[in-house]
Amino acid sequence: MKDKKTISGFSKLSKRGKIKWMVENFFKDPESVISELQSYWHSNEEQQKILDNFSENTISNFPMPFGVSPNFVIDDETYCIPMVIEESSVVAAASAAAKFWMRRGGFKTEVISTVKLGQVHFIWHGDGKKLEYYFPDIKKKLIEESFSLTESMVKRGGGIMDIELIDLTESQKGLYQFRASFETCDSMGANFINTCLEQFSKSLKSYLLFSKDFSADEKNIEVIMSILSNYTPDCIVRATVECPVDDLGDFPHGMTSEDFAGRFFMAVKIAEIDPYRAATHNKGIYNGIDAVVIATGNDFRAIEACGHTYASRNGSYSSLSHCEVKDGHFKFWIDLPLAVGTVGGLTSLHPIAKRSLELLGNPNADQLMRIIATAGLAQNFSALRSLVTTGIQQGHMRMHLQNILNQLKATKDEEIAAINHFADEIVSFSAVRQFLDKLRLG
Ligand code: MEV
Repeated sequence: MKDKKTISGFSKLSKRGKIKWMVENFFKDPESVISELQSYWHSNEEQQKILDNFSENTISNFPMPFGVSPNFVIDDETYCIPMVIEESSVVAAASAAAKFWMRRGGFKTEVISTVKLGQVHFIWHGDGKKLEYYFPDIKKKLIEESFSLTESMVKRGGGIMDIELIDLTESQKGLYQFRASFETCDSMGANFINTCLEQFSKSLKSYLLFSKDFSADEKNIEVIMSILSNYTPDCIVRATVECPVDDLGDFPHGMTSEDFAGRFFMAVKIAEIDPYRAATHNKGIYNGIDAVVIATGNDFRAIEACGHTYASRNGSYSSLSHCEVKDGHFKFWIDLPLAVGTVGGLTSLHPIAKRSLELLGNPNADQLMRIIATAGLAQNFSALRSLVTTGIQQGHMRMHLQNILNQLKATKDEEIAAINHFADEIVSFSAVRQFLDKLRLG
């Protein structure tokens, strides 16, 4: 018997057809699901079409909060940073760190390098030394034959920077790789890099095919794949905050600025040493980074994959941020690989991503790298500040309480009473419900 939950030709159904099939087979209350999904359709059909075309089998839009975090002073410019994030406290934490550092000189940033990478992986069973010998000639052909693809990028100051031949035959018989480096200017460059790499693989095959110096056996090459690498350890931005320890101020429970600096330093040290803590520490950093990356229409999966690989570059997963407390001076910084674009892709198609970039003053890719790294550092600063002083739950629970009160449809008066009551009580859904029940009974 055919399983009703499988279907062929789903993608060819209209949007309404897709929804109808889905609700009939997977939901108990089809009508309410249909009306809920439809309520999130864009009122402007043209706009909805743009959103639909980002993906496939689109049936509705998935709303996420779009927030902004003001008061970010970065390299003496003031920014209001857009953030798309579903987790409470993230935007508040970013804003708190922005305000804290605004009064202490702001964030300083530096783009250290902007090289992006791509690879052609191939199997060849000839003499490796011979391939190495002919490689300069092959490389020349790869670059020449991709000229029509790179011409406009070269005009913008980018293009292919280099191509290396990497011998991986010790790990896998016959395995080689071209590792190509690119400058992609203000675009993230994925399409550009992948197109060049596919051309390289064609050029390599034709070089061997038409060369008189390679035997019939040696002409036999199998390209396994040609694709960019999301690991870009040479596309690095640094963001830093620093001030005299005395200027850090005083903290709750009588903690002095010196105590704070010492505890903060130790929190970073723990994340440098222990991968279990590093994962949570870096997750907090990506709370800030992803939120800005999504808001500006960039690819957060690529950016996270890269960052976590970079965090493991010395053989053990470690902290992306670092702290130094020396001679009465506090310094906290992050070195982050970030391959982002401000032209092309979603950046110019998504209506809100366009507005986000406008809010940031239409930055180029370098500037966006600086802003995103700052958001990551700010997020990390706020999280560690809470962790080493009051603990994280105090702030989280305030937001959590608000969400529960919203869910339980609390009135303004009930909200005020609950906030007072839960100032020193543990917040849980059932505790808040019990409190409201009691209050409502009079
Ligand atoms: C929660 O989303 C992020 C934190 O756990 C980060 C951290 O522990 O540093 C608060």
